[in-house]
Amino acid sequence: METVDVVVIGAGAAGMMCAIEAGKRGRSVLVVDHAPKPGEKIRISGGGRCNFTNLNASPKNFLSQNPHFCISALSRYTQRDFIGLVEHYGIAYHEKTLGQLFCDGSATQIIAMLVGEMKRHGAELRLATRAEHIEKVDGGFLLGVNGTRLRCQSLVVACGGKSIPKMGATGFGYDIAAQFGLRVLETRPALVPLTFDQNTLARLKPLAGVAVEEAAVSCGKTAFREAMLFTHRGISGPSILQISSYWREGDEIGISMLPQTDLFEALRQARAANGRQALQTALAAHLPRALAQSIAEEANLPGNIADIPDRQLRRVAEMVNGWRIKPAGSEGYRTAEVTLGGIDTRDLDSRTMAARSVPGLYFIGEVVDVTGWLGGYNFQWAWSSGWCAGQAA
Ligand code: FDA
Repeated sequence: METVDVVVIGAGAAGMMCAIEAGKRGRSVLVVDHAPKPGEKIRISGGGRCNFTNLNASPKNFLSQNPHFCISALSRYTQRDFIGLVEHYGIAYHEKTLGQLFCDGSATQIIAMLVGEMKRHGAELRLATRAEHIEKVDGGFLLGVNGTRLRCQSLVVACGGKSIPKMGATGFGYDIAAQFGLRVLETRPALVPLTFDQNTLARLKPLAGVAVEEAAVSCGKTAFREAMLFTHRGISGPSILQISSYWREGDEIGISMLPQTDLFEALRQARAANGRQALQTALAAHLPRALAQSIAEEANLPGNIADIPDRQLRRVAEMVNGWRIKPAGSEGYRTAEVTLGGIDTRDLDSRTMAARSVPGLYFIGEVVDVTGWLGGYNFQWAWSSGWCAGQAA
């Protein structure tokens, strides 16, 4: 039977980082992945340019039942450390917005860097190899892969969450946790577009493709200010993806489509300057034309703006800047960028990611109940948690 020190299940961001670090310590490492290529989510991330970290990453950018859990890992391996590695490999990058760092070229450069580092430190990568079942034995684990068995001292579970099943997401990590008696918190799709009910959709479907540059979107006490996009099913764009991680079925969200503008005042000025224009024209000075038209129709105020009283202009301003909507649902794991919830961090050591009750078993990356905001935070969690496990496994 083949024996190695460390088996890592999953050649994603977290698994590859862990393999590199364990390899540096002289451990024999084997990374198995059922996909034909490593790092498929890295490849498609950031529109093909991989938003690989965020300059401002800090624990407050992460959701978890235990918000303190991520502090140790994020401070032991920081965004600066990962940027150092990227620079060492001569990969050109830029800050797009809000501290988000993207490759100038292609996300495949990040994959090549990780695969190169694994090779350099002697970690073996075995693709098209599915981890099927696991057994605890004296001094380690037996792992069933592709009909054969592997033996290892340390087993690192880095098989990601449930998002995008088409790309190989399996939820296998949660099964392993349950098998060994670790608690698994309810999972849900996050960083995901939200959908409208049939009535709202019938009204707003013509807006599919229309974007608002900066919307202030809130749910409860949480708010984000980023772009928003109308889709064929509802709403998306960074601000909506962000708020989706905080939204629950039945919650209302608040949307201000012109948070920088006192629209009532702007409409009054438009009326004073040119009373013969239609409301739609005055709105189109601030909003995309199709959206302006839709709001004017909804307001049902035809004719010249000169004939619209203050009370009605205030109502229109409220429609734009005080829109309250109850999404019907989300697009689910099919399009979600990440999975919220997962392995309960109370059962893991925050310094090493080791299962407290099972010596030699580690959980890293998205499978753990630590979920980042949109903007490079999820990869930073993968790098940081992977690095920590790599020092110990
Ligand atoms: P990941 O899912 O990357 O890897 C898990 C691996 O395990 C996969 O390769 C899978 O094939 C393998 N596997 C599963 N079950 C297995 C089994 N039984 N046997 C063997 N192998 C198995 N984040 C960010 O910070 N910046 C960004 O720009 C983006 N962009 C983005 C775009 C899109 C479209 C998505 C879907 C997601 C993002 N993300 C992101 C999120 C980011 O991709 C995600 O947080 C990380 O990839 C998680 O890394 P992991 O290594 O934990 O899992």
